Amino acid sequence: IPVEDFDLVIFGATGDLARRKILPGLFRRFVAGQMPEAAQIIGAARSEQDDEAFRAETKAAIVEFGGVKKGDDDLARFLQHLHYVRIDAKGEGGWKELKAKMRKGAVHAFYFSVAPALFGDLAERLASHSIADGESRIVVEKPFGRDLATAKALNATLRKHFEEQQIYRIDHYLGKETVQNLMAVRFANILFEPLWNAQYIDHVQITVAETVGVGGRGSYYDTSGAIRDMVQNHMMQLLCLIAMEPPYHFDPNAVRDEKLKVIRALEPVEATEIVRGQYQANGDGKGYVEDSENPATRTESYVAMKVRISNWRWQGTPFYLRTGKKLRARTSEIAIIFKEPPHSIFEDAQTSGEPKANELVIRLQPNEGMNLKVMIKEPGPGGMRLVQVPLDMTFADALGPEGADMPDAYERLIMDVIRGNQTLFMRGDEIEASWAWTDPIINAWENSKQRPEPYDPGSSGPDEALGLMHRDKRRWREIR
Ligand code: BG6
Repeated sequence: IPVEDFDLVIFGATGDLARRKILPGLFRRFVAGQMPEAAQIIGAARSEQDDEAFRAETKAAIVEFGGVKKGDDDLARFLQHLHYVRIDAKGEGGWKELKAKMRKGAVHAFYFSVAPALFGDLAERLASHSIADGESRIVVEKPFGRDLATAKALNATLRKHFEEQQIYRIDHYLGKETVQNLMAVRFANILFEPLWNAQYIDHVQITVAETVGVGGRGSYYDTSGAIRDMVQNHMMQLLCLIAMEPPYHFDPNAVRDEKLKVIRALEPVEATEIVRGQYQANGDGKGYVEDSENPATRTESYVAMKVRISNWRWQGTPFYLRTGKKLRARTSEIAIIFKEPPHSIFEDAQTSGEPKANELVIRLQPNEGMNLKVMIKEPGPGGMRLVQVPLDMTFADALGPEGADMPDAYERLIMDVIRGNQTLFMRGDEIEASWAWTDPIINAWENSKQRPEPYDPGSSGPDEALGLMHRDKRRWREIR
């Protein structure tokens, strides 16, 4: 079903994000029949080129990143929706041309796929040239600030010209199908919610492991590190969706109110509850120091931490978070580890050394799906032997081809902007609260003289991270 007619302006349309994600994502929505016939995608950037050159460039990007064949008919038709305007973010060049292209009656969305330093200039000129109005939507990307002060300043800049309900702050993790499924699993089933608290859940593990290093973007990453790059945003969002109270309705502010309460209830993280790591060089693979080209760097390419939520639901149930580059496997998952039954009636039964606690594992990528581990009797005449088996629901198996063909996060989110649905976007106060919690963690480290723990590429991270769990008589799940 097509969405409402729209004019989408992409500032920074020749940049990496537009080429890798935004334009291929729009193409896939076009193929899915969601793009209205008159819809326009207007690329705006500094370089001098015409519509045809922009179309050719976009075509190459879609072939490279969208897995499409060059001669594809759909692609030729899609490219007709594209236009280009050379724009000067800091000057007056191009704004009149842009205004002339915008159609009355269509939804107007402006995607700021540019450095945050330009947000103010773009917002200012969209307003002064009367291109944007109270109905327009703007889309901004991470990094949304590098601490509380800069995030507040960015919010203030945007709010000078736009209302909160016009601002769509992207965290692409919220666009991932399984992340949305978290809410469906929790709030559309009776099974889990009664058990979803400290009385029944021993702890939660959230893992986002990557195999890639930071090569190629080392200079950005070195000013960021895993906490700013992944924890403050993506992992925080995952944590919120697991920990939040049921919103009264699946409505943008109802959902975001509940997430905000979780962030505000986070306890400060002690220095002893966090482990930072840096991957070392091995063989001909470069280490983090070489990738960042900064011999003195103390930036973490890995972090593991224990997070506590100070409220009734979660008192005594820690959330362990870990994320890192150059690890053994690319895998993102949330594991809910339940408590063991309070009393075993099978005391004499051999349990083949199996763990006895139920586990619900939600896999975000790859092989999106869920897996619930339950105890059963091992079949056969050998007495009451217990064994743990998975109730496996890999979406691709359970839902057929549609389950395997999940839209990319960006596709979903851009269409939500056009539909005017902010549920999967971060509100300004949420981001600020998240930085308010993250800032002291980062400051404590910057004021210390400590160095990150080295770890081997292809490993599960530094050994010290194991200690974080062992101390609590728990174990990380294997990264595989
Ligand atoms: C980005 C980070 O926001 O998310 C990257 O800047 C990271 O460092 C990426 O690699 C991970 O996203 P995904 O969708 O591949 O899990």
